[in-house]
This record gives sequence, structure tokens and C-alpha cells, in this order.
Amino acid sequence: MTQRTVLILAAGQGTRMCSNLPKVLHTLAWKPILHHVLEAVQPLNPTRLLVVTGYGAQQVEAAFSERSITWVRQKEQKGTGDAVRSALPELRGTPGDLLIMAGDVPLIRTEILEQAFQSHVKSGCSLTLLSTTLEHPTGYGRIVRDGTGMVQAVVEERDATPEIRAIREINSGIYLANLSRLEGWIGRLGNDNAQGEYYLPDIVAMAMNEGGVHAVHHADGQSLEGINDRSQLARAEAVFRDRKVGALMATGVTFVDPGSCFVAGDVTIGRDTVIAPQCILGPGVKIGSDCRIGPFCHMVDSAIGDKVHIEPFCHLEGAEVTGDSGVGPFARLRPGARMQRGSKVGNFCEIKKSTIGEGSKVSHLAYIGDAEIGRKVNVGAGTITCNYDGKNKHKTVIEDGVFIGSDTQLIAPVRLGKNAVIAAGTSVAKDVPEGALAITRSPQKHVPDWNERKKKVTS
Ligand code: UD1
Ligand code: CA
Repeated sequence: MTQRTVLILAAGQGTRMCSNLPKVLHTLAWKPILHHVLEAVQPLNPTRLLVVTGYGAQQVEAAFSERSITWVRQKEQKGTGDAVRSALPELRGTPGDLLIMAGDVPLIRTEILEQAFQSHVKSGCSLTLLSTTLEHPTGYGRIVRDGTGMVQAVVEERDATPEIRAIREINSGIYLANLSRLEGWIGRLGNDNAQGEYYLPDIVAMAMNEGGVHAVHHADGQSLEGINDRSQLARAEAVFRDRKVGALMATGVTFVDPGSCFVAGDVTIGRDTVIAPQCILGPGVKIGSDCRIGPFCHMVDSAIGDKVHIEPFCHLEGAEVTGDSGVGPFARLRPGARMQRGSKVGNFCEIKKSTIGEGSKVSHLAYIGDAEIGRKVNVGAGTITCNYDGKNKHKTVIEDGVFIGSDTQLIAPVRLGKNAVIAAGTSVAKDVPEGALAITRSPQKHVPDWNERKKKVTS
């Protein structure tokens, strides 16, 4: 296989986004636009990967600092041709073919790029250009062909006559070029056009006479669409979602209303799990099989075992829910919440950095933080672990079989021994021995006929 070099252009501000954030850092499916392009390129195993930055260069480079990328700076954004020019010193002497593409085409699929490489090598032409036909080609460069179907040139929207604007075949902005010819073409680019920019597509007309142009028309226009404004970004989000949800449905997951859910690229879900409408499953979510996820649930970075029922309106972040457990409705599991097999966390409960042991129940209105709860524990409604003294967090240990009555405060650090019973309304500030009853309730008093006497006094 010939050597492959990839050059991604990402120096533009993205004026049409009307944003201070560089365009390629805008988020699509939880990740920057450029991330998706890099992910599509990676399986091609390029010998070198170069990215041209300019507007917000430091910010863009910092966002991808863990990747091995050769960053090239374009000082002023004078057009896509000028962006390639700024990479030429880095490219000099590099053998093989060069894939040039924009950093704003996040829906691109590896397969399309792989085919393009292969078809370029096969054609023997010095330049290959990927085109597609769009129903609404506004904003794109149009492909002008002669009577025999040979590509003549690419004409930008703003330089196009009405006849050319009527052409629906567009330039995808993805090219494969022979490195030995590229430098000569770039050297001859001018900026005599509507935008006063050095247009990269102008190399097409030059290549016609030098080695020939091979135009590959691709039927999948959607994958080639660029993001220039926020409505294109929103459309891409929908495409991404449809792809991801579609792939999950193909492996046996039910989405009751696929169009209403958002699912990150790395989410995995087991067979026969049913996802109700309006769920958002962010990065790092793993759901087992035979689960039922109710509507309006939002999860990120969480692992759910098999046969788990999550009722509507739950929020999970950094949580682990073992099989056969139940969550919600209206439960919040924060980082470090670990529910063991057959446990339950019910409505209006918040769990943070705590383990809920096998078969234990925290059913209503509780805050459990920094706690270790054993097996078969019942935590009554309104139980609060007072884990924070204003400076430090302290731990609560609740051993197996403990019963905690309602409206109880557990003032940490504290330990409730095995099978202890905590009476409702108790403030537990000392360790409770195994099997003991803890009660801090003040005795109840009765004032006879109080209501009648009060009426007489006030009348
Ligand atoms: C470009 C093509 C157009 C094609 C379309 C496909 C040109 C002149 N036009 O138009 O034919 O149909 O892509 O999506 O190339 N960039 C730089 N430096 C610059 C200018 C741009 O690095 O000085 C980068 C941008 O960050 C972006 C990419 O090049 O990632 C494309 O630029 P953009 O302004 O989006 O070009 P389009 O108008 O979409
Ligand atoms: Ca673009």
C-alpha cells in the first residue's frame, strides 16, 4: 500500500456560526465536530496526520492534545488554498498520496474515504475529487462538467452565474492529490474572486491539464455535508442520532420513539431492552439486556446491569446499577453511587459515593452520601446522611439488616451495627450496637382540651 498522508483544514472561524468558539469545536453528539472527522480518518492508518489551525488555534490544539497530530498554523485565513499552502513546508518530501479535507464534515464515514483512496490510486490521475448531488446545493462549490461529462472546474456559489447555481452536483471539499504536483498548483492560485480568497478548488482546473482529474460521485450526500451554520449543526445531530439509534435497533434494542432520544457514539445496550421516548444516553453509558428505561431519563458515564427497571425522570451520572435493581421515578444517582443486585432507590432520593447493598431499599425522599449500606437494609422516607461538617466529608456505615425509620438523621461518622433498629425521627450521633434500638425522640405530651380553651381565650 502506498503511503497515506491526511491534511485536515480547520483554521477558519466559521463566520456563519456567529460564535466566538472556533467552528470545529462546536459540539455534535457530545464531541467537537473535529473529533468526528479524526475518528473517521484514524482507521485509514495515515502515516502522517496534519491539521491546519488558525482561528483559536491554541484552543483547538489543546482540545486534541492527546492525539498524535502535526499541527500547522495558518497565520491569516486567506482561503482553503492558502491553508494548504501553509502546510507545504511540512509536506515537502513526503511520498505517496495526500487526502485533503475540511474539518467541518463530521458525518463522513471511513468507508467513503477508503474507497476514495483506492479509486484514486486505480485511476492514475493526479487529482481525485469527491462530489455528490444535493437537493439543496446552496453554499457549496458546483461541479462544472463539459459535454462529455469531464469535470472542467469547481465554481463557488458566490462566483457562480444563475446557470451554474442551478447545478446540483457539488464539491464535497474532499480531494486526493499527488504530492509531487500539489505544490505547483498551489503556487499558481490567485485570489481574483468574489471573496478575495485563495480557493483550493481552483486546483481542479489546473489538474485537468496536468495528470487529469478523477471525479468520484458519491450517492450518500448526507455523509459529505459540511457544517457552516447552526441549522446544519442541528441537522447533523439528527443524522448522527438516527445512525446510532438505528445501529442499536438492528442489534435488538427497542426505541419506542427513536426520533426523540439522543444517544452518544460509545453507548452500548443489550438485547430486548426497551427505551421509552425522550431519553438521553450520554457518553460512557452501558446498559444490559432486558432492561426497561422509562421516559425522560438522562444518563452519562453509568453502567446498568441486566433486568434493571429505571422509572421515568431519573438522572444518573457515574453510577453503577447491578442487575434486577429498580431506580426511580425521579431518582438522582451521582458519581460513585453503586447499587448492588436487587436493590431499590425510589422517588426523590439522591445517592452520592455510596453503596446500596444487595436487596436493600431506599424508597423515598432520602439523601445518602459517603455511605456504605449492607444487605437487606430498609432506609425510611426522609432519611439523611449528614456527611458534611462544613469542612470534611464523613462516612456512614449501615450494616446488614438494619431498619431505619422515617425522618432520621445519621450524623457521620457513624456506624449502625447489624440488625439495629432506628426509631422514626431519631438523630443518630453515636454508633449503634448490633441489634439495638436507637431512639432520640422527646416524650410526647398532651394538653387536654387545648383547642376548646384556645377558642375561648381568643373570642
Ligand atoms: C468549501 C469549498 C466548496 C465546497 C465546500 C464543501 C472552497 C473555496 N470552497 O466551501 O467548494 O463545496 O467546502 O463543504 O474551498 N479553512 C481554513 N483556512 C481558511 C479558510 C477555510 O483552514 O483560510 C478551513 C475551514 O476551517 C473549514 C474548511 O477549510 O474547515 C472549509 O472552509 P469553509 O469556509 O467551510 O468552506 P465552504 O464555504 O464550506
Ligand atoms: Ca464548510
